[in-house]
Amino acid sequence: MIPVYAFFLLYIFPLGLEFCSAINSITPTQFLKDPEAIVSNNTLFRLGFFSPSDSSNRYVGIWYNHPSIKEVIWVANRNNPITDSNGVLKLSVDGNLQVFNGRNQTVWSSNHTLHASKFSVAQLSDYGELLVQASNTSSKNGSTIWQSFRHPVDSVLPNMGFVLDPNSDLKRVLQAWRSFSDPSDGRFSIGTNSLDLFQLIIWDGDRPHWRSGPWNGNIFIGTRYHNTGFGNILVNTGSFTQDEIGGMSSLVFAGANETLMSHYVLTNKGTIEQRWWDDSSKSWRISWKAPDNVCDTYGKCGEFGNCRPRSSPICSCLKGFEPKNKEEWKRGNWTRGCERRVQLKCGKQDGSKQDGFLRLKMMKVPENAEKMTGMSIDQCRSACLTNCSCIAYAYDILITCLTWSQNLIDVADLSPGGVDLYLRLAQSELSNKLNVKAIVAVSVISGLTLVVVAAVIWFMWRRCRSRGNVPPLPVTKFHKKKETPDPFVFGDKSQVTIDDLEIIKFEKLDEATDSFHQKNLLGTGGFGQVYKGKLEDGQEIAVKRLSRASGQGTEEFMNEVALISKLQHRNLVRLLGCCVDGEERMLIYEYMPNKSLDAFLFDPEKRKCLDWQTCFNIIEGVCRGLLYLHRDSRLKIIHRDLKASNILLDKNLNPKISDFGMARIFGGNQDQASTQRVVGTYGYMSPEYAMEGHFSEKSDVFSLGVLLIEIVSGKKNNNFWCREDSLSLLGYAWKLWSEDDIISLVDPSISGAPFQAETVRCMHVGLLCVQQLAKDRPNMSTVISMLVRDIMDLPNPKQPGFIQRQTASDTGSYQMSEQTSSTNDVTVTALSPR
Ligand SMILES: *[C@@H]1O[C@H](CO)[C@@H](O)[C@H](O)[C@H]1NC(C)=O
Ligand SMILES: *[C@@H]1O[C@H](CO)[C@@H](O)[C@H](O)[C@H]1NC(C)=O
Ligand SMILES: *[C@@H]1O[C@H](CO)[C@@H](O)[C@H](O)[C@H]1NC(C)=O
Ligand SMILES: *[C@@H]1O[C@H](CO)[C@@H](O)[C@H](O)[C@H]1NC(C)=O
Ligand SMILES: *[C@@H]1O[C@H](CO)[C@@H](O)[C@H](O)[C@H]1NC(C)=O
Ligand SMILES: *[C@@H]1O[C@H](CO)[C@@H](O)[C@H](O)[C@H]1NC(C)=O
Ligand SMILES: *[C@@H]1O[C@H](CO)[C@@H](O)[C@H](O)[C@H]1NC(C)=O
Ligand SMILES: *[C@@H]1O[C@H](CO)[C@@H](O)[C@H](O)[C@H]1NC(C)=O
Repeated sequence: MIPVYAFFLLYIFPLGLEFCSAINSITPTQFLKDPEAIVSNNTLFRLGFFSPSDSSNRYVGIWYNHPSIKEVIWVANRNNPITDSNGVLKLSVDGNLQVFNGRNQTVWSSNHTLHASKFSVAQLSDYGELLVQASNTSSKNGSTIWQSFRHPVDSVLPNMGFVLDPNSDLKRVLQAWRSFSDPSDGRFSIGTNSLDLFQLIIWDGDRPHWRSGPWNGNIFIGTRYHNTGFGNILVNTGSFTQDEIGGMSSLVFAGANETLMSHYVLTNKGTIEQRWWDDSSKSWRISWKAPDNVCDTYGKCGEFGNCRPRSSPICSCLKGFEPKNKEEWKRGNWTRGCERRVQLKCGKQDGSKQDGFLRLKMMKVPENAEKMTGMSIDQCRSACLTNCSCIAYAYDILITCLTWSQNLIDVADLSPGGVDLYLRLAQSELSNKLNVKAIVAVSVISGLTLVVVAAVIWFMWRRCRSRGNVPPLPVTKFHKKKETPDPFVFGDKSQVTIDDLEIIKFEKLDEATDSFHQKNLLGTGGFGQVYKGKLEDGQEIAVKRLSRASGQGTEEFMNEVALISKLQHRNLVRLLGCCVDGEERMLIYEYMPNKSLDAFLFDPEKRKCLDWQTCFNIIEGVCRGLLYLHRDSRLKIIHRDLKASNILLDKNLNPKISDFGMARIFGGNQDQASTQRVVGTYGYMSPEYAMEGHFSEKSDVFSLGVLLIEIVSGKKNNNFWCREDSLSLLGYAWKLWSEDDIISLVDPSISGAPFQAETVRCMHVGLLCVQQLAKDRPNMSTVISMLVRDIMDLPNPKQPGFIQRQTASDTGSYQMSEQTSSTNDVTVTALSPR
């Protein structure tokens, strides 16, 4: 018997379990005895007893229920094997899973202390997760009290997260096996060293071995090959999802195709790999792995060293630095690193020039970054320049500003990925280099000029002689310089793929709009004028010619536009492309033949076209578009200027939100919760935004509420004038609500009896949205649930903000600079000498 069993172990593991009985759950009265197993309902996963290759120890684990796959993705008793084949997996009456060996000793227990009862049940889910559900009745639908995904071993499966429990050892989210034949805790673990600026680190014991660089909400900015690896596949569903119950953060691995059995694993060699099963070759394929390059090893070139995988030697000192020990460095021992050649001037008043920054392109940013969110690249630069402890900064469009004050370590050339790193250097270090370059350039240019001038003089002299008269000056029609910049030179592609962004030449737009003729002017908004245009191929477009005050570099502009153009939703106006030409910035949108909602709402003739069904369709569409911006899109966008004139209607009167992301394009920042530049429209702005510059999703909800009330009443908030009390539309609605007469505010043209309840419901939701305090207002998903009657009972609204009529007569978009003195302002003004 025993030799036969050994044969099974070595050669057809885990097939040897195929003949087992078919129980599908474990209960206090039903246990799992070696070699029995449980298969998930979708037959993808199997829970049972196994022995690793070259070992006779028995373990309880979970693996893919596939005849060719041996890799085990979860192990219960990894550090305490069963040495016989009489193991049992039990669920105790208190709801703990326990593994016993043949001598009835506990080798593993789930050890939780939550209450449970004899009706608890353990099952294997379709995602490969072992779940224990507690229930005190026999109906078996109790709450989950223990789940194996919270206790990972060395693998992360789809729908599982890197769960970061601040109370636990953050270094050990996953711990590799010791060897192929031994699942016990190995040398390598993966985790993080900071929850604030989250990055993954592989530790070799206690020493960092590899670092991913900070997570920017989308990718780890220090990894190679984002486009095939972590960038696309390790998708965080809506930034860090904060676990309400345990106070834990998790980065969820989502979006993988189940049939590929894709997962991440930390191998016993210290690499993190993403692999998927290739059934045709019956083997795992690796789609991404790290470390994967000589320069990926943590701190390869020491402090202030730069690792460049395509150079020889791979290590060099950063510009302005020299090896601490030249002998060792030459021998290829780079551990000591480099030191600064010329001390920084910062703080010293010696008459010399200010320090400057050297731009290092496409780098893996160093360890120990500090983040300052909500800054433009210029603010980031000056924040760094004015603080003497700041020795470098970098700018990532999603994190925004990163600065460093400690010695720079783990710097590498990551092209074509990475971000630009700006290194602070003494002016002499910067100008030295510049001078050499400048001298070379100047001499080359002046040489060339001389040759050209000589040639021209000689040529003219010959013509004069041959014709005997002065040649006419060449007359060329004045043309603006129209070289459209090469889309590939802007920004770096790891952050945003500008490749997909359509860059349209100025001439084309000039032609399409008849040189921006007045007759094509569709309107003027807060950000510039909008023209109708028709491209050569007949496609109609809307061209938004931005006002000059954008204050943003071409690069950032293009980056933002590329990001915004990625936001695509049925209820958002499509951004088709952009055009940059000198100072000129233009955005090209799809053309909406029915113009904007305000043209319909507030025009007595057109208003008649809007029956209640259409109105409701518009309301719902706007809500869905806004929900996408707030929650579902890759970037969280707060619109900040939602109003009837920003809702465009397509030919079927479907609504599309326009002008979203403008704050980004205008160099402001979306992530900032407070701004000095209030961009919005009086009448639609929430009190906290208009008065304190604080904005959030709830300020958009306020604007939406105003819009709802406008749509249902057919009255314009800004033009509304109630004789008594100088009430605003909101104030008037509130007054009628309190008098239980809100129905009299509903536009008679839509208030027909069949829809009365619905129109009143919309008013009610509108009033909930415009409540004075942001915290009282519902969020967008709740608003939608209320409108579509998923939520039937609506709470009573509290008093809205702005019930008095605003005195400001401005009805256009508004940009107020330095409008308030926000205390959250992050600009660094104090100088701290070193
Ligand atoms: C194992 O131990 C438990 C109590 O610890 C006991 O109830 C049970 O009978 C024992 N089983 C065997 C087979 O010895
Ligand atoms: C459960 O508790 C026991 C006793 O404290 C301990 O030896 C064991 O390692 C714990 N098991 C787990 C999985 O934490
Ligand atoms: C598997 O299917 C059974 C029978 O339909 C059901 O009782 C059980 O809850 C399912 N298990 C899981 C984890 O969904
Ligand atoms: C089941 O548990 C809940 C809470 O744990 C308790 O309120 C309820 O009374 C219990 N029911 C029974 C039948 O024990
Ligand atoms: C189980 O589900 C049924 C139907 O959904 C429900 O009526 C019952 O109250 C639930 N029982 C428990 C203990 O949650
Ligand atoms: C998953 O992959 C399989 C095989 O490659 C494919 O047939 C299937 O359509 C994919 N499913 C999804 C949801 O993409
Ligand atoms: C490299 O230099 C360090 C001291 O800076 C020394 O401790 C280490 O042993 C050296 N390594 C080698 C391989 O020589
Ligand atoms: C300068 O930077 C250091 C390190 O980031 C920080 O601790 C300090 O507060 C900054 N100083 C000022 C004046 O902001």
